[in-house]
Amino acid sequence: PITLCSTLIGGEYQKFPGDPVTVYSPVCAKTDNGLQQIVLGSRPAGGVEEAQAALMAAVTAYNEGRGKWATATVGYRIACMERFTNLMIEVRDKVVRILMWEIGKSLSDSEKEFDRTVNYIRSTISALKELDNSNSRFQIVEGVIGQVRRTPLGVVLVMGPYNYPLNETFALLIPALIMGNAVVFKPPRFGSLLFAPLLEAFRTAFPPGIFNVVYGKGEVVVPLLLESGQINTLALIGSSKVAGHLKKLHPKINQLRAILGLDAKNAAIVLPDADLDLAVSECLVGSLSFNGQRCTALKILLVHRSIIDEFLEKLLHAISKMKIGMPWERQVMITPLPSQAKVKQMRDYIDDAIGHGARILNEGGGDIAGTFFMPAIVYPVTPSMRLYREEQFGPIVPVTPFDDIEEALAYVRTSEHGQQVSIFSESPEIVGRLVDPLVNQVCRVNINSQCQRGPDIFPFTGRKDSAEGTLSVTDALRSFSIRSMIATKDSTAGKA
Ligand code: G3H
Repeated sequence: PITLCSTLIGGEYQKFPGDPVTVYSPVCAKTDNGLQQIVLGSRPAGGVEEAQAALMAAVTAYNEGRGKWATATVGYRIACMERFTNLMIEVRDKVVRILMWEIGKSLSDSEKEFDRTVNYIRSTISALKELDNSNSRFQIVEGVIGQVRRTPLGVVLVMGPYNYPLNETFALLIPALIMGNAVVFKPPRFGSLLFAPLLEAFRTAFPPGIFNVVYGKGEVVVPLLLESGQINTLALIGSSKVAGHLKKLHPKINQLRAILGLDAKNAAIVLPDADLDLAVSECLVGSLSFNGQRCTALKILLVHRSIIDEFLEKLLHAISKMKIGMPWERQVMITPLPSQAKVKQMRDYIDDAIGHGARILNEGGGDIAGTFFMPAIVYPVTPSMRLYREEQFGPIVPVTPFDDIEEALAYVRTSEHGQQVSIFSESPEIVGRLVDPLVNQVCRVNINSQCQRGPDIFPFTGRKDSAEGTLSVTDALRSFSIRSMIATKDSTAGKA
């Protein structure tokens, strides 16, 4: 078990009152006496004092004088980040193991998540070198000499999601830190222990107070932080509802910047001339990898009625071959969900759909061993069902037939979300006609492939309530900074 008694604040490990909180794995053991939860360890209780200390440390560190973090050279910040990366790599195996046990992500996906994170940091460093070169030169324009700089935003509250607790958290943390901001970090409820082996790397690599962690309950510490008015930026990947609520807590909402990755209901549109084997395999992986717990997952499949029977037959065959198992098993796609509450949520979606006339086409829809949920193909999903519009964020594949492409386009156009869409067709003319209207409704159109965030050099964002600001390597450097300038009049202007 991992016992984490203190948190990192102001460059020191600090303890606050309150009994440690036990952390359980979603992987349950089934015994004769029912389900037995596996204890992974414990983390600090945290709370009000912890949050106040973290905030004060971050504000103080940000306001420190010349040459400190916020005003340090880019070269210094990069050197700290490189040091951090080397230290992080030393604890790879520990972090990967905890990630797997803590959120039930397969071992191979946990390894990929770690390695992708390291690559993300390295790419960020390269991108910053280029950005810095192009931004720090002097310009003389109409009698004004100016030097434009990328300057930090201030104190950033970073909150990552449970599904990518390392990678997506770092997609916020790394650009925030490297651009000179000070961070207060609230780890996700599922996925907090995996930071334990990383705390020492943060403590060693960065100046005190630049990175501070609060473990207290979100409903206690987050309002306190935001209501203080001293958080300049809310950087969150999570639900649109939570983000909307949090933003309102800041006393001056127009002074709070927000960099948000939020809800999505990405649709696949499968056209009559699609390569059905390709479409089915992309749709299956797109809908169900890591139990469908990806913001970029396909959350509804819109299939032309003329091919629906064949499509469903192939989909059923493919899903029957899919591996369900424990996270450490090879090539497993469906693993335990993080909690029994999540299982119930999935059950409620299924009950609602069945109550409105849909059927489960495979053996799915039930729970096994507490936190497992058998993936379910639900058909036909109609507008009266919650699954038609709501983001299920779990192992359910809703399928809806359409007769005219206009119906599918209208689905995307009238959605409250606007992250991505996938289209499947073998005709360049048809694809060509659809791409332009679609890319004006969402932020990424995938042709004959599932939706996804990477490669991380590409912009990652969304329209409507799916995002605010843009993430990914280069864009995030811009999102976490402001172009400011130093200017003076050119006294030689007009003189011979
Ligand atoms: O949960 C949302 C993630 O951004 C998904 O990322 O497409 O790389 O799995 P991914």
